[in-house]
Amino acid sequence: MQQLRRGAAAGTLVLAVVLLVISAATAHNITKILAEHPEFSTFNHYLTTTHLAAEINQRTTITVCVVDNSAMSDLLSKHLSIFSVKNTLSLHVLLDYFGAKKLHQITNGTALAATMFQATGTAPGASGFVNITDLKGGKVGFALQDSEDIDAMYVKSVEEIPYNISVIQISKILPSEVAEAPTPSPSEMNLTGLMSAHGCKIFAETLQASDAAKTFQDNAIGGLTVFCPLDDVFKAFLPKFKNLTAAGKISLLEYHGLPVYMSMSMLKSNNGVMNTLATDGANKFDFVVQNDGEVVTLQTKVVTAKVTGTLLDEQPVAIYTIDKVLKPRELFKKEAPTPAPAPAPEEDKPADAPKSHSRRHKGPPAPAADSPADAPSDDDDDAADQTADGNGVARLDAWRFVLAGISGLAVHLLL
Ligand SMILES: *[C@@H]1O[C@H](CO)[C@@H](O)[C@H](O)[C@H]1NC(C)=O
Ligand SMILES: *[C@@H]1O[C@H](CO)[C@@H](O)[C@H](O)[C@H]1NC(C)=O
Ligand SMILES: *[C@@H]1O[C@H](CO)[C@@H](O)[C@H](O)[C@H]1NC(C)=O
Ligand SMILES: *[C@@H]1O[C@H](CO)[C@@H](O)[C@H](O)[C@H]1NC(C)=O
Ligand SMILES: *[C@@H]1O[C@H](CO)[C@@H](O)[C@H](O)[C@H]1NC(C)=O
Ligand SMILES: *[C@@H]1O[C@H](CO)[C@@H](O)[C@H](O)[C@H]1NC(C)=O
Repeated sequence: MQQLRRGAAAGTLVLAVVLLVISAATAHNITKILAEHPEFSTFNHYLTTTHLAAEINQRTTITVCVVDNSAMSDLLSKHLSIFSVKNTLSLHVLLDYFGAKKLHQITNGTALAATMFQATGTAPGASGFVNITDLKGGKVGFALQDSEDIDAMYVKSVEEIPYNISVIQISKILPSEVAEAPTPSPSEMNLTGLMSAHGCKIFAETLQASDAAKTFQDNAIGGLTVFCPLDDVFKAFLPKFKNLTAAGKISLLEYHGLPVYMSMSMLKSNNGVMNTLATDGANKFDFVVQNDGEVVTLQTKVVTAKVTGTLLDEQPVAIYTIDKVLKPRELFKKEAPTPAPAPAPEEDKPADAPKSHSRRHKGPPAPAADSPADAPSDDDDDAADQTADGNGVARLDAWRFVLAGISGLAVHLLL
């Protein structure tokens, strides 16, 4: 009896721990919070379509200032582009926690809060700051930093999860000319020009000269994420690139794009297999996004590249720099694992291992293919990855111009 009860208690404990783990992992979900309040359904809808919801869910210590459906219709009657709506709504996400209590206890009556609009870097000067003022009679006013007057009033607290997220209602949209200003649509953006100007000139020029450029530009309208290898690494890779077939070249370039917009925080929270612009069937030309702490890595089964910087992050287009060329397994052989520091890997790998080991690590490289002597050692991690394209680069040099010339035709035939 005693034991039974103890067992049940232990079970309950395990269940409680499991539930705790689940709730900690999921944190807050702004879409779900607002779904319980139909008067904010328009605001909620636009948080989703602008992808701001994902950004909000990723952050803690924030305040979302929502407006009701009639205040949203005032904004929508301006017929702004979705990008301007995004900028405006991001001005309503304060990067600090203001619960009802804190709002009414602001030191010296006023506080300046940075917003998500300020954090995007697109807000000039202090246009991304909101001034919160504790007014007479317990009222609280909200104004843009450069406003003469109070722009909106605090209405009520909608939800408080201290100190992760506070959702409060304010009376009106904060009227920012800067946020509402028309932004160039992504189809007007010169993506390759932007990459060229930021350390990815060789990748950009290669893309520009290829039919893959059109795939990128077409996707820029609905959503696009580009990972561009920095000049050093793409330059070292060029000999290998040039030996790819015309279709292989296009696939390789398209492998560096995703047909969806992924902000940095979305990359960090959406670990898993991603389809690329080159994906043409299940499990083809995909890779795994995996964050390693603050660093996002892209794992292709041939190489693991790190995201090293952000060139552009404006929904629906994001462009990041990476430290290695992404080599799809469809075009390149798996690279020899870097030898483990401790015991020799040969000893603890049974069964299917010997074949590849004997080719990779032992003796004189038998029939040409894997020979590191033939492969130009043009980047640090792939001495062993090329059976297909390591040798004869110089020989190929002569007729790569011919190849380039017919590549357009080849593409038409292949598609
Ligand atoms: C607050 O956010 C942290 C980090 O995401 C999470 O672990 C914690 O469970 C959240 N707290 C509440 C009360 O939701
Ligand atoms: C948030 O909640 C909405 C509505 O309940 C749901 O559709 C969505 O998948 C949730 N998002 C996350 C990241 O859990
Ligand atoms: C509040 O006002 C007092 C007196 O005017 C000043 O000394 C103090 O620095 C102010 N505090 C803040 C946080 O602005
Ligand atoms: C905030 O607004 C109040 C009232 O309009 C004003 O007195 C105060 O100077 C403003 N504070 C800042 C930091 O702009
Ligand atoms: C984009 O920029 C590149 C490099 O700056 C330039 O060569 C190209 O002509 C531009 N394309 C368009 C469509 O403006
Ligand atoms: C170049 O690539 C082709 C096609 O993948 C391959 O058959 C050939 O062996 C490569 N040439 C050299 C010299 O590596």
